[in-house]
Amino acid sequence: MKILVTGGTGYIGSHTVVALQNEGFDVVIIDNLCNSERKVVDSIAQITGKKPIFEEIDLVDRKKTLECLKKHKDIVGVIHFAALKAVGESVKKPLFYYRNNIYSLINLLEAMQSNAIDNIVFSSSCTVYGQPDQLPVKEDSPLKKAKSPYGNTKKMSEDIIIDTSEVTSLKCISLRYFNPIGAHKSALIGELPIGIPDNLVPYITQAAIGKRKYVRVFGNDYNTHDGTAIRDYIHITDLAKAHVIAINRLLSKTNKKQFEIFNLGTGRGNTVLEVIESFEKVSGLKLNYKFVDRRKGDIEKVWADTSFANRELGWKAEKGLDEMMISAWNWEKALAQKAD
Ligand code: NAD
Ligand code: WQD
Repeated sequence: MKILVTGGTGYIGSHTVVALQNEGFDVVIIDNLCNSERKVVDSIAQITGKKPIFEEIDLVDRKKTLECLKKHKDIVGVIHFAALKAVGESVKKPLFYYRNNIYSLINLLEAMQSNAIDNIVFSSSCTVYGQPDQLPVKEDSPLKKAKSPYGNTKKMSEDIIIDTSEVTSLKCISLRYFNPIGAHKSALIGELPIGIPDNLVPYITQAAIGKRKYVRVFGNDYNTHDGTAIRDYIHITDLAKAHVIAINRLLSKTNKKQFEIFNLGTGRGNTVLEVIESFEKVSGLKLNYKFVDRRKGDIEKVWADTSFANRELGWKAEKGLDEMMISAWNWEKALAQKAD
């Protein structure tokens, strides 16, 4: 069975293509390479022994998107990762973000409709919950006003899909990711942050390899046990597996509603200092870190209630923080070797 993976050369997309191919699916990737590299396709082939079909297309281009889906007639489902994702950049360039993330989705949904493709797995984010009133956060927790245009595109996208699924045969599983980190055990694929990373783990690994002077810890006066903020970090390969289960659920028609939402996290929260400690333990290195002011827009703490995903998808994140940090470190070292 053939699955279209948009954003398939990106961080989460590439790991999901590997998981799909390992389960016997054929994959067509659409990506415009605005935040990834074509050679990821070769790395996927090296890991799985199978090269996915790659189409370099910007999903904002309605005509090309339509043509591409028409060309690959036998696609039975779509996993939609393609989006811009830098929260800070979205605040500075809101229209750029709305155009890319919203037009892409609309074009894709129209192309799916024209080709009678009914199944879509959508990449959503825990960002839609803001600072939840109750922790762990469940899927039916009230959504908070988005703090960034990026976050808003996730909420808007879910609404666009819901409205469409109410009047067509479209079925969707929206996966709300918490904080995906780490890399494939081969260290052949991983996250490729361009410029200075916004996210904690690539910042830590870059500091450890000598690309950054020190790790800035944003805030040590939060109401948590060590004063630093708490997130639910999840290993990228655990996250990827959930996508295979989700698309299988749609294809086998075992979904219970036309639009379903699942939290993808471990159900455990860790502070920034615990992440640093885990990195130091597995790498044997001492990290240079400094406390700086809180980052604007950051929430204090969030972690997932994963019981619905555990029960309904039969999925559970298996890997712990140390495994996440080892894989992230191996990936950073592999990148450094390639650069030499
Ligand atoms: P990524 O940037 O590594 O991958 C996204 C891919 O989409 C890139 O390869 C990029 O080139 C491509 N793309 C972007 N706009 C496109 C367009 N118009 N046409 C074609 N391709 C386009 O990001 P990621 O971390 O893999 O994230 C994947 C998805 O998961 C995104 O929707 C993101 O918002 C969502 N998400 C990510 C995180 C995270 O922490 N990484 C958390 C929650 C949700
Ligand atoms: C984690 C923790 C920081 C960097 C972001 C997006 C969110 C979602 C996931 C897409 C926080 C602290 C960070 C640093 C630090 N993405 N930190 N020093 O902010 O939880 O979520 O990625 O949907 O929308 O906002 O992730 O990795 O940036 O931060 O102290 O240099 O690490 O304050 O507590 P975040 P992050």
